[in-house]
This record gives sequence, C-alpha cells and structure tokens, in this order.
Amino acid sequence: MTHESILVLDFGGQYNQLIARRVREQNVYAEVLSYTTPLSEIKEKGYKGIIFTGGPNSVYDPASPSYETGILELGIPVLGICYGAQLMAHLCGAPVKTAPVSEYGKTEILVDDHEGLLQYVALPEYGRDVTGCDLPEHTVMWMSHTDYIAAPPEGFRITAHTADCPVAAMENPDAGLYAVQFHPEVMHSKEGSKIIRSFVRDICGCTGDWQMDSFIETTVAQVREKVGNGRVLCALSGGVDSSVAAVLLSKAVGKQLTCVFVDHGLLRKNEGDEVEQVFGPDGSYDLNFIRVNAQQRFYDKLAGVEEPEQKRHIIGEEFIRVFEEEAKKIGAVDFLVQGTIYPDVIESGLGKADVIKSHHNVGGLPDYVDFKEIIEPLRLLFKDEVRQVGLKLGIPDYLVFRQPFPGPGLGIRIIGEITPEKVKMVQDADAIYREEVAKSGYDKRINQYFAALTNMRSVGVMGDHRTYDYAIALRAVTTDDFMTAESAKLPWDLLEKVTSRIVNEVEHVNRVVYDLTGKPPGTIEFE
Ligand code: XMP
Repeated sequence: MTHESILVLDFGGQYNQLIARRVREQNVYAEVLSYTTPLSEIKEKGYKGIIFTGGPNSVYDPASPSYETGILELGIPVLGICYGAQLMAHLCGAPVKTAPVSEYGKTEILVDDHEGLLQYVALPEYGRDVTGCDLPEHTVMWMSHTDYIAAPPEGFRITAHTADCPVAAMENPDAGLYAVQFHPEVMHSKEGSKIIRSFVRDICGCTGDWQMDSFIETTVAQVREKVGNGRVLCALSGGVDSSVAAVLLSKAVGKQLTCVFVDHGLLRKNEGDEVEQVFGPDGSYDLNFIRVNAQQRFYDKLAGVEEPEQKRHIIGEEFIRVFEEEAKKIGAVDFLVQGTIYPDVIESGLGKADVIKSHHNVGGLPDYVDFKEIIEPLRLLFKDEVRQVGLKLGIPDYLVFRQPFPGPGLGIRIIGEITPEKVKMVQDADAIYREEVAKSGYDKRINQYFAALTNMRSVGVMGDHRTYDYAIALRAVTTDDFMTAESAKLPWDLLEKVTSRIVNEVEHVNRVVYDLTGKPPGTIEFE
C-alpha cells in the first residue's frame, strides 16, 4: 500500500462508508472490507489502524458476525464502534447484555477521562454555561443500541458513561484497544470528528498523506507507467465520474486516449452539445473525441415499449452495441477506462441487497470490446473526492457538480412509451425546472431534482380552448446516500413559478404535479 491506511471492518452497519469518509477527512486513506476478510490478508496490508463498524446483531447470538481474537493482538490499534465496541468487549471476555434502557438518537455523554481517545472532546470550555461556570464534562453523541457492555473487560478503563449506559466509552491503551458505544461518524455527534482524529492521527500515528493533489500526481504517474505507448479507450457519458476519469487519463497519456461519447437521445436539454464543447476539438483537453449521434437508433428500438425493465434493458444493450461498433472502427486498443468509484467497489459485510432496478452505467462494457486491461483511476475515491479531483483538474463547475443522472437517462423519466416528441417535452420542462431551482439557490440544498413526464393526459383550458394534454411531475429529494430519500420542501412560490412557465412554454403539457413521496416507498426515479 502506498498510503498510510485505516481498515474499516464492516459488520453490517449502516454507516460503514461514512466512517471511511470521516477518516479520509483527516487526510488518511480508509478502506472498507467485510468482516469475512481473512486475518492473513489484513496482516499483509500493513494497516495503521482498524475500526470495527456497528451492525444490527447481538454478539451473544452465535449466528452474528464475529472475528477471531487474533485481530486484537496484531499490535495495530483497534477502535470498536457500537456493535464493534460490544464485539471487542465480547472477544475480551466481558459481559454484553440487553440494556435495561435502549438509547436512540442524541444522547448526553459524560466524559470521565480525557487522557486517550476522548482527549479533544467535552473539554471544560465546551461545557461552560452562560454564567461561565463549568458544567459537567459532557458532549452530545448519537446512540442507537439495545445491547450494552455491562462491565469493561480486564485491563480496560471506562472513559465515558451516560445516564443509562455504564460503558459509553472504554479503552486499554497498552493493548491499543478503544471502544465507543455511540456513533462518532454521524453528523449528529457534535464532536465525533475529534474522536476520529484522535484515533487515526494520535493513536495510530498517521501523518495525513491522503491529499487530492498527491492523488492526481501519483495516479498520473502510475497510469503513464502502465500504459506506456498503448492505446486507451474511454466511454464518456458526460457524468462526473467518466469526465474526471477521462481528464486524468488525458493528463497522463494525451492523444493515446480516445473518448467515445454516445448520444442516445435521452440526455437532458443541450447536454450532448455541452459535453462536446468541453471534450471535443474546441475544448480544453488533449484527447481524441468521438461523438456518436445515435438518437434515432435508440428511438427506433424503443418504439412501442412501455415496460420499465424492458426499456432499461434495451437502452443498456443498444448502448453496448453502438459503443462496440465505434470501438471496432478504432481497432484493437490496449486499455479500457472505467469511471468506477469506491462505493461501487465495496461489498457490504452482510452481502448484497435485493435488486430493485437493473442499474445501467455507461462505461461497463468489457465483454464486447477488444482490449487487454481495464483502468479504473477513481476506484479508491468517494463521490465528493472525485469532485475535488475534478475541480483541481480544472473541469468546469457545472460538470463537476452535475447532479446524478441515470445511465438510461430520460428513458426512465418518461413513463410508458418513449417518443422523440415526449423526449422534447420532458427536456424542456426539466430545463425550466433546473433553471428556476438554480436561480432560487435551492440547487445547493437538495440532492437531486428533475422533471418527469407522466403517462396521464387530462383536460385543461387555455385561451378559451379546451386542451387534452400531458402532466409533468416535478421531483426533488434530499438524501445522504440515495438509498433513502425525503421529498424536499421547496417553496410554494418557486413551484408555482415553475408550473406556470412549464404550462406556458412547453407544448402539450397542461398540468404540473409535485411528487411528495419519500424513498421508501417510492424510488427516486419513476421507473
Ligand atoms: P432510485 O430510482 O433507484 O435511484 O431510487 C437511486 C439513484 O440512482 C440513480 N439511478 C441510476 N444511476 N444507472 C445509474 O447510473 C441507472 O440505471 C440508475 N437508475 C437510477 C438515480 O438517479 C438516483 O440518483
């Protein structure tokens, strides 16, 4: 491993990726591996520290995820969080029981000892009341547990407790073992990041060598060495990941890189031209750019098809065919670039969840193209790190901060059959919506928002004439991870303005509705 690195050992907690993000905020690289990873593999990687994540189970249930005690004896500091804390106690022979009182949500933590892990939290100045008197040394952390550590294992001392939990934090510094019952990684834990800092920087001794500048330098050098004089092919979608991957590659190997951009006719308004402006011959990058205008071909294939999974399948399949044909024209290449990012690489500790939709990502084509090896320059990065790299590489803001856009594009935002006329309606409505939301400043406060075209036609009246036209649905959500989402509370005035503009400016739309459904039970996209 070239970087100092922390292992986040995943026991099925909801926040495992968040823990890795928090560690990286301290400029220390962190990776998430399942608890099924063998100890020999962990030893080999030379981690500077290990964090056990939370998880939904009880350690005293024999079927719950566990680990061999050897992991606590490697001489590498270990921090257990929630279930991870209980597991550490259990492995060290201490009693873990159902707590008489479960704790959920923000909880006052009383700190008993500031020597080790908790050195930066609940300091007296933090707990001073309005009159300047010292309050008990407390801080607020997020709790979510039904079991608790009833007593610490031998050699451990208690460093924090709560009204209902005798061991909210404990440590055995001689053994390098630390545990917290609360979740320092979540935003609601006011001083959580100080605990992560204390662990990775002070206890594990990491110096903080994970910086985006050095990431770019190292990656460019590695790619150059790997590619040599070879030829590289990249499927560019115009999304953040493939754009950043392409620019990194172009920085490394220039014209040895060819980017193929397939315009499937299901992009947002003007998006195809915007991508061409940035990456095409008049753009600012040193690469070969091919735009394939395959709009009609996709519309022909999709004619008469209404079923969402069938639409997704056709779009994905056709995309591969078009890309394959272009690749054949170019001839054999040595490398294929993919914009895979870290969350795509992590396999959860408790296995894969149910497939609700068959996701299609422009870029996943290895079986069909004549190449020797795949290059995934972003596979170590989280999305916001990809964005940081993009900005450092000088990619325009509007591309770097582009909101997520699904591979099948507007194809899954037109309910039912897709026609070129419907594509135009949804493009125009969506452009108005995006323009107005951006003007209001709400674009920075919500995570995804778009217009979709419903399959519903209804009666309206315009200039004394009866209309019988389509309804547009507006969607806006806030979410941390796109797995769950809430409908955003957009101001009424804004929604009225967008509605009025859409019905006035977009032909064949006479009604606009706002979707209030959360996820679950809805999904973010309509199909
Ligand atoms: P859903 O609709 O499943 O979407 O709640 C969650 C997030 O994933 C995006 N999405 C996709 N992204 N290929 C993608 O790259 C796809 O096929 C796809 N389908 C949905 C969606 O936009 C949202 O951000």
